[in-house]
Amino acid sequence: MKIFLKPTDPLKFDVDILLQFVFEDELMRELSSFPGELSAQIKEGSLKEDFQGSEGQTLILSTKGLVSSYKIAFIGLGKKEDFDIAALQESVALGIRKSKEVKAVKVGLSVKKEWFDRFDTTDTVRAIVEASHLSDYQFLLYKSEGEKKKIRQIAELLLSVPAGRIRSSEQALEYANIISRATIYARDLVNEPPQLTTPAYLSQQAEKIARESKGLVKVTVLEEDDAKKLGLNAFLGVTRGSDEPAKFIILKYKNSRPKQKIVIIGKSVTFDTGGLSLKNADNMETMKLDMSGGASILAVFQALPDLNPSLEIIGLIPACENMPSGKALKPGDILRAYNGKTIEVLNTDAEGRLTLADALSYAVKREKPDEIIDIATLTGACQVALGQDIAGLWGNDNKILSAIENSAKITGEKVWRMPLEKKYKALIKSHITDVKNIQTGKYGGAITGALFLQEFVDNIPWVHLDIAGPAFAEKDSPLCPQGGVGFGVRLLLHYLTTK
Ligand code: BES
Ligand code: ZN
Ligand code: ZN
Repeated sequence: MKIFLKPTDPLKFDVDILLQFVFEDELMRELSSFPGELSAQIKEGSLKEDFQGSEGQTLILSTKGLVSSYKIAFIGLGKKEDFDIAALQESVALGIRKSKEVKAVKVGLSVKKEWFDRFDTTDTVRAIVEASHLSDYQFLLYKSEGEKKKIRQIAELLLSVPAGRIRSSEQALEYANIISRATIYARDLVNEPPQLTTPAYLSQQAEKIARESKGLVKVTVLEEDDAKKLGLNAFLGVTRGSDEPAKFIILKYKNSRPKQKIVIIGKSVTFDTGGLSLKNADNMETMKLDMSGGASILAVFQALPDLNPSLEIIGLIPACENMPSGKALKPGDILRAYNGKTIEVLNTDAEGRLTLADALSYAVKREKPDEIIDIATLTGACQVALGQDIAGLWGNDNKILSAIENSAKITGEKVWRMPLEKKYKALIKSHITDVKNIQTGKYGGAITGALFLQEFVDNIPWVHLDIAGPAFAEKDSPLCPQGGVGFGVRLLLHYLTTK
């Protein structure tokens, strides 16, 4: 989909469908902006179909040639006071979905002045563009040609932008195109089958990103032997049962005058069977998603050379499978992590924290960064706590946490701050080692997961995002079809580019 900005009146757009957005109960007031005959038709249609402009409501009418567009669609925005960027994106996405349903190839979108007033030009245009690309996304690689042919793609989207805002909108459009491409790349990586997205495949992707980065991204891949020499034993423990060689992937992006050094880490268990603490069939079904954190890190690095922030950014992707076998890690085994701490493994399904223990220790000891951010499909408990749409957010630095929350508001990706409750540290104390990988008792599992990770960050400012809920959509929604969401790509890139 190609997106264009036009300073013209959207009623003059020569398109198959024009998307018009209305807040609840405001349609009647806005009717005067349409030619008389069309306005009468809109009024009639809205009464017949009981369209009030509540959130998610749509009304599609033929314009009968009264304006340039073939059809006109009204999308309800709901109550003004509840409206935020996430709601804006949902509404745009719904408009794009409806356009596809009526087989539109050229779509017009009438940008509301109120959006600019509420969010400013940049954030409004970015939100519209990102929502448009992301709602247009489908993973069709494995559909046969006949199936693919049935789907008509939107070729062009025209956005009406007042002449005075065109220049800042152009920049926002360019940024949002880059960010959307990266998010879609992350979605593809998650949606590909786990037989393809092995640790080796992720390392090849990292190398490809470096090759295409105009020299701005460098990649090092540690093989299992290298990891053994270094002492990444917690990470190596997880891969023991797998026939696929593990890869500890290190990406480095550096701008000429970096203001700060930041390490970003993504959990990358390319398939999580649970190991000997085997998952049941239902829980295992979607476990190709368990490299979503790593997919988001790769996507961030794909975009960094185009966005060029003045930072040094290190990406760590500890990639391996979690499989049962005669060689697999056993409940009761003890591992010594890279920072020397000992871990009693009591459940091999709590494997993500083992791979992250070494990645975090590696970041602290080898890179001495200003900040560390990890993003991980870490716990089912976080899904229970916050549901499918919201990521859990933990950290030891209020300034960074607030900045992440602010980025989340602007990108529409939802996060919720959670506590690193000191009292719960007792729940992961082991009798024979420094820490154990599961907790005593059954409550607060997302928090004890975060507390486990904290054991490996020393005092470096650190943020942990548990994306077990939002990484993977279990059903279709306007912004994302069932499957990988690419959660965190927009959030991380916004955070990194506004530093
Ligand atoms: N990869 C899972 C967490 C997960 C569950 C992500 C559902 C996305 C959707 C993780 O490795 C895991 O299995 N965690 C266990 C931890 C437990 C054994 C302490 C869990 O959540 O059950
Ligand atoms: Zn697991
Ligand atoms: Zn896992």
